Parts: sequence; C-alpha cells; structure tokens
Amino acid sequence: MDFEGKRVLVTGSSRGIGFDIARMFLEAGARVAINGSSDASVDNAMARLENFEEKIAAPGNIGTVDGCESTVQAAIDAFSGLDILVNNAGVGAGRPIAECDEAMWDAHCDVNLKGLFFCCRAAIPALSESNGNIVNIASDAGLIGVPGITVYCGTKGGVVNMTRAMALEIAPDVRVNCVCPGYVDTDMIRISAKKKPDPEAYWQKMIDYAPLKRIASTEEIGHAVMYLASEYARFITGTSLPIDGGTTAGK
Ligand SMILES: NC(=O)c1ccc[n+]([C@@H]2O[C@H](COP(=O)([O-])OP(=O)(O)OC[C@H]3O[C@@H](n4cnc5c(N)ncnc54)[C@H](OP(=O)(O)O)[C@@H]3O)[C@@H](O)[C@H]2O)c1
Repeated sequence: MDFEGKRVLVTGSSRGIGFDIARMFLEAGARVAINGSSDASVDNAMARLENFEEKIAAPGNIGTVDGCESTVQAAIDAFSGLDILVNNAGVGAGRPIAECDEAMWDAHCDVNLKGLFFCCRAAIPALSESNGNIVNIASDAGLIGVPGITVYCGTKGGVVNMTRAMALEIAPDVRVNCVCPGYVDTDMIRISAKKKPDPEAYWQKMIDYAPLKRIASTEEIGHAVMYLASEYARFITGTSLPIDGGTTAGK
C-alpha cells in the first residue's frame, strides 16, 4: 500500500505491535512519529529504525492528558499536520477479580481508555483538516468476555464502543475504526506467560485458543491497520475488525 508523504502518529510504537505498525508505514513511504512512555524506549526504537529518514521521536505518557496532548502536538508540529492516528499504546495484565486493586484498575483505564480518548481529542482538529482517520487497537477481549482479564476486557470493550460513537460524531470528516487482535507474539504475552507456573503449557494454551491454532505476528496486525487507514477502506467507519484466527466467530 502506498502511504507516500502521509503523516502518521502511532502511540506505543517503541516495541511490540506498535513498532511494527510504525515500521510498515515507514516502508510504505509515510512520515511517522514514534511514541513510548519514556525517552529511553523511544530512543531505542529510533535506533532500530535507523534505515528510515522520515521519523520523529514523540515520547510521552499516554496515561495522562498532558502526555497525550504533548505527544499529538509534537507530531503535528513536526509534520505540519496529521493524516493518521493509530492508538496502539496499551497495558494488559491478567488477575482474578479478588486480586484486582485500584492501582491496576487505574493503570488500565488511564492508558487503554483515557489516553486513547484524549489522543483522539487532541488530533481531531488536524485530522479534520486533512480528512484523515483514526485506527484504534482494541482486542478480541473487547468483543467477548475472557475470564481472568476482566479489567482488560472492560477497557477494550470500551474502545470498541468508543470507536463507534466517535465515528458517528466526527463523520464525515474523519473515519474511525478499530482492530481487535487475538494473541500476538509480543512482550505483553511473553511476560504474562513467564509468570505462570508452567509457561510452556500456557503458551500452548494460547496457541490452541484460536481456531486457526496459532499466535498472530505483529505484521498481521499491521496489515489490518494499514488497510483500515488506507483509501481502500474509504467507505468504512465505526467498525471493529477482528484479527484473531476465528476466536470471536463463535463456539
Ligand atoms: N499482544 C497481544 O496479544 C495483544 C492482543 C490484543 C490486543 N493487544 C493490544 O495491542 C496493543 C499493543 O500491545 P503489545 O502486545 O504490542 O504490547 P507491548 O509489547 O507491551 O508494548 C506496549 C507498547 O505500549 C507502550 N505504552 C504502554 N504504556 C504507555 C504509556 N503510558 N505511554 C506511552 N506508551 C505506553 C509501550 O511503551 P514503553 O516501551 O515505553 O513501555 C510499548 O511501546 C495494546 O493496546 C494491547 O492491548 C495486544
């Protein structure tokens, strides 16, 4: 796909899914703002992307309104506008309900919901000017209930429905869509597997979870994001696209 000259901000692009989304946009000719929660994590990603000229560092804590606004503004200032916002920054931890405390609740809501909303709010004027679009990263756990990750499910379900509401409110100027990945091979699931009593068995359980019997690659999520952000999807808004190997198709 051709994104020559398009101006893109990917939140949480210092590693994982967001890093590959940023890399794929750069490969397709876009100018990309790289975000992560710290200067160090963004510097590290910038170094890994050394072959690409058209990138800028936009570190900022997406868990705060100030952090969202300064990150979005850094991208707009550097590129003189914005065409695509990918809200990818997110946190996810699994715990039984009885062990979910206020700190965990706040951490999930601050990044996954509040941060996503305030990045959109900050970016909408620039996106309206460019007739741009937003792609949110939710989860299959935003479409179905998954025991053991109730707080995460709540935030990602919120992303799915906020995508719909926002799409209606800011149409026809700006499209808003959402991608719902199943398990993807990143730090997020590797770290949670390591914490289990039998990490190998847990990894196998994640493979078996999807009817297609594997874990997704970060690139497979990137392809879906690029499709929704592209001209091919110009009549699509308010939708949620599962990239989950069939998990949410039913039992
Ligand atoms: N992996 C999966 O199986 C899976 C499945 C469904 C949905 N998702 C969703 O996909 C998205 C990316 O997940 P991932 O697996 O790539 O996660 P990851 O490997 O843990 O990476 C998370 C990214 O988000 C950034 N981030 C976290 N908190 C932030 C904050 N407060 N401010 C700015 N950046 C922040 C991290 O930056 P730092 O490097 O600075 O920490 C990092 O770049 C998330 O929204 C996640 O919920 C993942």
